Amino acid sequence: MQKCLSDIYKTKMPPQKAIPGQPTDSIVTRCRSAFRRLPGTFGGCWAWLAAVLLILSQGKVFTTDALLLRGPYLQGMSPHGLVIRWRTDQPCDGQVTVTMPDGQERIFWGEIPTTEHMVHVTGLAPDTRYEYALETRSNPLVQEGDSHFFRTAPVLGSTQPVRIWVLGDSGTGTPGQFAVRDAFDRFTAEQYTHLILHVGDIAYNFGTDLEFQLRFFNVYEERLTETVFWPCIGNHDTGFSTSPPATLPYFQMFSLPTQAESGGLASGTENYYSFDYGNIHFISLDSMASDRSPKGPMAQWLTRDLAATSQDWIIAYFHHAPYSRGPHDSDWEVPMAEMRRYVVPILEAGGVDLVLSGHTHGYERSALLDSHYERSSTFKPSMNIMSGDGQIGGDGSYQKRARGPIPHRGSIYVVAGSAGTVRLSKKPYPAMHTLILTLGSLVLDVVGTRLDARFLDLTGNIADQFTLLKADLALSGPHSTPSGEAAFRLKGEPGRRYRIESSNDLKQWQFEREITLQTGSAWIQMLLQDKSSMQFFRARKVPGTPPVPKLPGAIP
Ligand SMILES: [Fe+2]
Repeated sequence: MQKCLSDIYKTKMPPQKAIPGQPTDSIVTRCRSAFRRLPGTFGGCWAWLAAVLLILSQGKVFTTDALLLRGPYLQGMSPHGLVIRWRTDQPCDGQVTVTMPDGQERIFWGEIPTTEHMVHVTGLAPDTRYEYALETRSNPLVQEGDSHFFRTAPVLGSTQPVRIWVLGDSGTGTPGQFAVRDAFDRFTAEQYTHLILHVGDIAYNFGTDLEFQLRFFNVYEERLTETVFWPCIGNHDTGFSTSPPATLPYFQMFSLPTQAESGGLASGTENYYSFDYGNIHFISLDSMASDRSPKGPMAQWLTRDLAATSQDWIIAYFHHAPYSRGPHDSDWEVPMAEMRRYVVPILEAGGVDLVLSGHTHGYERSALLDSHYERSSTFKPSMNIMSGDGQIGGDGSYQKRARGPIPHRGSIYVVAGSAGTVRLSKKPYPAMHTLILTLGSLVLDVVGTRLDARFLDLTGNIADQFTLLKADLALSGPHSTPSGEAAFRLKGEPGRRYRIESSNDLKQWQFEREITLQTGSAWIQMLLQDKSSMQFFRARKVPGTPPVPKLPGAIP
C-alpha cells in the first residue's frame, strides 16, 4: 500500500504514542462477524463472551492493540464526501485510506486520539464508487480480505435510479428483526442500496449505548459499512425524555447535518434536518423532543426549507404517525395528533409527496391524501386526491400533474413500524387504504419521475406496493419506462369509461383493460408484452357509459 504525503488531506498528526504490538485482526470484529447472524441480545452476548475467551486463550491483553468495537458506519453523504465513523476499545489515532478510481490512495485523518473516530472524507467525485480501509498507525482495523466501499451521492437534480431501505421500530433484538433484515438482503441481492432511512425507535428499550450496539450496529453491521444511514428520533431512542441532553447516545453516535452539509436548508440542530440526494429532497423531523407547534422553531424552519427546494421529489419522515389506529392511536396520542394538526398542513402546502413514520407496529398506508388534519371521524373520501390501490395492473398508479413541488396535490402516508415487532391493531384507520399486520420493511425505488414502493414482509413476499408517477411535460406523449412499461396520457370526458387496446401492426387490436376517467385525463401504464418491438395503444369509448359528475377533490 503506497501512501503519498501529498494526498494526505489533514496533515495535522494526532499526538499519540505508538501502539505496541504487531498488526492483527480485530478479535472482537471476528467474533461479531461470526455471531451477527444471531438475534440481538443473544448474538451480542455470545460475541463478547467469545471475544473474551479468545483473547485469554491467545494471551493477548486489550491494551496492546486497538480493537474495532463498532463500525465503520457512514454519515453525512454528499456528492463530494461523507463522514466515516467507528469505535475502538482504547484511544488511538485513526485514518481512512480511500482508493480513487484511478488507483491512487488518499489518506484522511481524524483530529485527535479517541475511541469515537470521525473522519471527514472530502474532495470526491459525485456518484462514484470508492473502496476504503480503516487503520491506526500500526494496526489495520478492518479484517484483511474485507472489501468496504461506498458510493458518493449524485449531483443535485440528477435522475438515475435510487434505492432506499426504510426501517421503523426495528430495535427489538428479536428473531423477527433479523428475519426482516435477511428478507431485504435476499430481495436487494447485489443491487446497491443508496440510503437507509429510519423512522425511529432504533434501539429498545431506552436508547442506551449498549442497546444501540446490540440491536442496531451489530444487526446491520455489514450494510452500514457501505450505505449511509439517516435516522430520526423515536420515543425509545430518548429513553422517553422529551428534553434529552446533548449527551444522549443518539446525538453522540450520529453525525447529522446542522448546516446543510448535504444540501437542504441549515436547521442548526441534529434533532431535525434536511438533505438532498439526486432529485429527491429528504426531511427528517423530530416528533419526540422538539416543539411541534406551528410557531415553534421546527415548523418555522420546515416552512422555509420547503420553500427553498424545487426537487422533483420530497420525502419527509418522523416517528409519530399522523394517521394510525394500532396500539398507538393518532386520535388520542398527543405527539401523533400534533404532527397531524400542526406539521402535516405545512408538509402538504410544501408539496411533499411521501410521508414516512412508525411508532405503531404494523404497516398502514394511504392513497393520495390531502387536508385531513383533525380526528379520524372527520375523514371524508373526497380528501383523497386519488383513491384506488395505486398499483400498475390494478387501479393504476397515483399521479401528480407536476414534476416539482406544488401545494396540496396529495401526499401518501406510510406507517412502516414493523421492522422489529408487530402488534394487533384495532381496525383500519379510515384514511388508510391498506393495513397489514406482519413484520417487514419498506423499499423505495425512485427513477426520474417515478417512485415505486414495496412493503417486504419477513419472508421476502411483497405484501403491498404502489407507484406514484409525476407528469413530465417533456414526456407528455407515449414513452417506455426503465422497468419495461409503456406510459401515456389519456384525455377524455370525466366519468366516461374507456377501453384500452394494443397492437404491434396497427391492424390487429388486442383488448388490454378498461378504465373510467375520474377527471379529464389520466396517466396510463401498460406492461409491454414484447419489449423487442414497437407497440401501439389506443383508447375507445365504451358505449352506454355517460359521463358522471366530477368527483369533489379531484385534480382540476
Ligand atoms: Fe415509538
